[in-house]
Formats: sequence, C-alpha cells, structure tokens
Amino acid sequence: MNDTSRTILLQANGLCKDYPVRQGIIPHTVGSIKAVEDVNFALYKGETLGLVGESGSGKSTVGRLLVGLEAPTAGQVLLNGQPLGLQRPRGRGNQGTRLQMVFQDTFSSLNPRKRVGDILTAPMRYHRLVTPKTAWREACRLLEMVGLPAAAYERYPHEFSGGQRQRIGLARALSLKPELIICDEPVSALDVSIQAQILNLIRDLQQEMGLTYLFIGHGLAAVHYVSHRIAVMYLGRIVEIAPAQALFTMPAHPYTKALCDAAPVADPALRGRERTVLAGEIPSSIQPPTGCQFHPRCPHAQALCARVQPQLLPCASLPPDHLTACHFAEALLGKGREDAV
Ligand SMILES: Nc1ncnc2c1ncn2[C@@H]1O[C@H](COP(=O)(O)OP(=O)(O)OP(=O)(O)O)[C@@H](O)[C@H]1O
Ligand SMILES: [Mg+2]
Repeated sequence: MNDTSRTILLQANGLCKDYPVRQGIIPHTVGSIKAVEDVNFALYKGETLGLVGESGSGKSTVGRLLVGLEAPTAGQVLLNGQPLGLQRPRGRGNQGTRLQMVFQDTFSSLNPRKRVGDILTAPMRYHRLVTPKTAWREACRLLEMVGLPAAAYERYPHEFSGGQRQRIGLARALSLKPELIICDEPVSALDVSIQAQILNLIRDLQQEMGLTYLFIGHGLAAVHYVSHRIAVMYLGRIVEIAPAQALFTMPAHPYTKALCDAAPVADPALRGRERTVLAGEIPSSIQPPTGCQFHPRCPHAQALCARVQPQLLPCASLPPDHLTACHFAEALLGKGREDAV
C-alpha cells in the first residue's frame, strides 16, 4: 500500500517544544531546552509508527504533544484534519477520548488507592460512555480483552505483576474507544518473556479494533516487531523515517546505521560486518551543535555538515516513503551497497 492510498489520522506540522531553563536564588530564565525541533510526520489509519532514539532525544515530549498533555511552542497537531484542542469538553466525539496514552511506569500511572474497576470505569463515566448499570459489564469486557480475569475488578494495582499492570494500562486506554494510542516505552520495564506477551497483545488489539499506534521505544527489536514504519529521533529532530524493514536493511542516515549496528545480530555470517560505533554522548539540547546536530559524532561529517542543517527529504536511490536528513545520504548508501557485495 503506498502513502497516497491511505487515510491520514494525525498530522504533526512543524512541532517545536522549548522548556525554559531557570537558575539563581531568585529563579530567572537563562535559556531554553529545545526538546523538540521542527518535527513533521503523518500517522496513517491502522498503522504503527515506531519512534526510536537515545535517551533525551525528545520521544516522550512528542508523545505528550500529540495527546495534548503539553502545548507546543510552535507548530500544530491535526487530528482528522482538525487542530487539536477545538472539541467539545466531554462525550464520544471528544479528542481526549480519541487519543490515549500508555506509559512505561505503571506504578505512577495507575492510582494505587483505586480499585482496577474504578480506574477503568471513571473515564468512561466522565465521558458518559456508560451508565452506572453498564459500567461493570464494560469493565469486565475490557479486562477479558487484555487477558485478565473479571475478578481483577475488585483488586488494587499493587496486587498485580508488572506485565499485568501494563495490561490494566492498556485496558484503561481502550476504555474510551480511542483511534490512536501512544505507547511510551510500554515494555521497557518488563522482562523479555513478558515483553513478548505485551507486544503480541498490542498487535492483536490493533487487528481486532483497527487501532493506530505511535510506539515509542529504546529497543530496536521490540519497535521493529510491532511497527510498520519507524522514525528515528536525534536531539529533538527526526533524522530518518521509513518502512520498518527498509530502515533496517538500508539505513540512509549514519545515526540510524549506528543504532542498527548496535543491535545484536543472531546471524553468524553478519557478525564480521563493518559497524558504525558512536563516540561520545548526545550533546546538550540547550546549546545544540550548529548545522547537522549529529555532525560532532558522525564518522562521515564534512565541513558542510557543521554549517547547514539538512532537511528531511527522500533519497534519489530509495523509494519516496524513505526520508532522511543527511547531506551525504546517497554516498553512504552507495558505500553500504559496495560493502554488501
Ligand atoms: N517538563 C520538562 N521540563 C524541562 N525539561 C524537560 C521536561 N520534559 C522533558 N525535558 C527535557 O526535554 C528533553 C527531551 O526529553 P524526553 O523525555 O522527551 O526524552 P526521551 O527521548 O523520551 O528520553 P527517554 O528515552 O529517556 O525517555 C530532555 O533534555 C529533557 O531533559
Ligand atoms: Mg521518554
């Protein structure tokens, strides 16, 4: 399916988010953290877009901007073509019900003083999606959907394992019948076997309910497993976005290549391949490098990279849905093809 035949559910247009940096005994603003800088992408109905990048690259901030938990400094989010925030405060048509978020830390995202039943029914009652009579039945249906027994209704979040609590988080997100769920590292705190169960649940729910996901993650393997397309973030910007398989087999940005090379490979034949190893730390987002922000760590950087910010554009030798922000992407791709021969 090509991009033109699909319906856009959500569009991020030039999203920016700056946080003020305050210092002093009488705190005053001395600068700003550029957490998100000029982020543009579209989310198509029914797809999963993975969002990866190092810690501090702005992934969670993008997630919070999309659900309206924070207001952007510049840019806008369009949901079904309408700017976010211009909707009725309650009810089924409300944007708040159509966008939901699942968090990594289930201890802090589920109220420890409320029973699971109350956690699930409170948002539905607020938005008048259930009556007091139908709330219990609906909550039990949600619990069954995420693989928990109806008896979980009466219990408190601390009485569950991490994986089970994440199922409750998913059930709560599903309770408002959303179109889009932002999953912010939903499996990072879980052990590997439980990760697989939750990832499978996320995929199954998508097929059953036609959900759209933005899946934020650190582990490339988990992101690859659930995503149709993947966007790579570096220091607040998207540096590459492509169909998941294409991003792995033909990374066009040196940062993406380094991320792919850092992932363990099971195939012994590929162990001896040339790897890009990143040196140094992610720079400060208060004073980001000039030009291409990756240039101080890039093994292929040239003088132009320190001066001119590259735009996120298609590469001539790749399909049009593979975009990258690198001045020398074509040269890097050519070298990759030579190495592969
Ligand atoms: N509320 C806030 N106030 C000030 N700075 C913030 C705030 N939230 C995030 N930041 C800063 O914005 C940048 C991006 O943070 P964000 O949490 O989006 O990164 P991330 O990619 O999700 O990282 P991680 O993978 O560790 O979760 C960081 O430099 C962070 O310190
Ligand atoms: Mg985060």
